[in-house]
Amino acid sequence: MTIAPSILSANFARLGEDVSLVENAGIDMLHIDIMDGHFVPNISIGPAVVGSLRKVSALEFDVHLMIEHPEKYVEDFVKAGADSITIHAEATRHLHRVIQLIKSLGANVGVALNPATPLEMLTYVLQELDVVLLMTVNPGFGGQKFIQEVLPKIVALSGILKEVNPLCRIEVDGGINVETARLVSKAGAEILVAGAAVFSSPDPQQAIYDILEAAKE
Ligand code: DX5
Ligand code: ZN
Repeated sequence: MTIAPSILSANFARLGEDVSLVENAGIDMLHIDIMDGHFVPNISIGPAVVGSLRKVSALEFDVHLMIEHPEKYVEDFVKAGADSITIHAEATRHLHRVIQLIKSLGANVGVALNPATPLEMLTYVLQELDVVLLMTVNPGFGGQKFIQEVLPKIVALSGILKEVNPLCRIEVDGGINVETARLVSKAGAEILVAGAAVFSSPDPQQAIYDILEAAKE
């Protein structure tokens, strides 16, 4: 089980310190949300910030691109230090091509699906993927409520991956806290993104331990 804190809920005025704080809790992965104001109604950060964080952190950078035309920007993010790039299936007309592009740049590749997008979108690319990210909120903002209806989707994906790509991991993103961590891990999720539950907590390190413990139950 991997917990990937999302820096979207961190304090951007002291981002490096917030990243060090969670890094010192013993996590391996940091989730970095990129939003363009088009694919989602919010704007966050770009490759320059990823590059700055790369200089101060050894964590695996899990870059979640909530942007249209991701093919235009994947190279910039890999150069900035992304270890893994996740694009949205809904955000490109040429999903297979972008997946190949990310692989050719040497990064791990993930595809994300919004809550309403069916798993069938991925039928012909699943073999190519290191990660499938199932959104458990509608993307765009931190601190939203977990969408329960995604639970059977996690179970279904878990069954399909056992057959076609057992090494591919299931990541969930949105509304993850101690309660929902239990539900998604039982359903088959292996990477849990948590933003508000970690960074809005008075003790982010304790929050990480609590979510991890809950996911083990
Ligand atoms: C939502 C982002 C998430 C977000 C999760 O669009 O992709 O990564 O930061 O935040 P929480 O855990 O607060 O729902
Ligand atoms: Zn995200």
